[in-house]
Amino acid sequence: MATEKTRAVGIDIGGTGIKGGIVDLENGQLLSDRVKVSTPAGAEPDDVLVAVRSVLETLGASDSDYALGVAFPAIVKNGRTLSAANVSDKWIDFPAEEFFEQGLGRDIHFANDADVAGVAEMRFGAAKDVSGLTILTTLGTGIGSAMIYDGVLIPNSELGHLQRAKHGKDAEAYAAYSAMERDKLEWDEWAARLQWYYSHVEFLFSPDLFIVGGGVSKHADKFLHLLKLRTPIVPAVHRNNAGIIGAAALSLGASPELDGTVTGA
Ligand code: BGC
Repeated sequence: MATEKTRAVGIDIGGTGIKGGIVDLENGQLLSDRVKVSTPAGAEPDDVLVAVRSVLETLGASDSDYALGVAFPAIVKNGRTLSAANVSDKWIDFPAEEFFEQGLGRDIHFANDADVAGVAEMRFGAAKDVSGLTILTTLGTGIGSAMIYDGVLIPNSELGHLQRAKHGKDAEAYAAYSAMERDKLEWDEWAARLQWYYSHVEFLFSPDLFIVGGGVSKHADKFLHLLKLRTPIVPAVHRNNAGIIGAAALSLGASPELDGTVTGA
């Protein structure tokens, strides 16, 4: 049975939605329903805090009975957010961890959203026991990335911001799931953009495994088979819940993957 030591809350803040759940850390399964609210327009810190509070209330996890992990779509270094691609610029060089700790009145563990999804898949999913280089990408509002080498996460890889030489734009503006929606693409048209993206990443890093996360990973059968790569490419086992699960998994203090000091699960 899940106990205080083995269950925690994960909150995954995205450019479009803020999701949360209570997670059993022994097996990475959700013990609650997944709660989701829209990310407030402009994604300013104060408004995001209010939205996170409402997710915790709905989960019945507002008090500090549970350890809490929060994932955010930006570079996160020593508790500070250093970038802001799909959120307010106020997050740039912002003491986000401290802000949430004060605003929620409890300790949290704070990290990049794709990195925590990578941790979830490493502990409980498609990257478990995989050796060599795994690159997990989340295809959502932006493209997030987690690079894991022999069980150690290399944080803040930001591969959604590779530049497209021809157009001088971020890869995510062209190939994220939001680009498919924005440009009203069919699956095969979007897959052609993903082909460019994954071929480029494959050329740069020669990974051993690609994992595709984000909400659209539940439709992996519609587009993954269209990609021609040397590297195996599979959907995240935990689909769009990987962020919640990974945030929760990192909440109990020790975060060996992010410190890079311990290998394995
Ligand atoms: C951000 C990343 C984030 C990704 C997915 C990108 O725009 O720069 O930090 O992981 O979106 O949310």
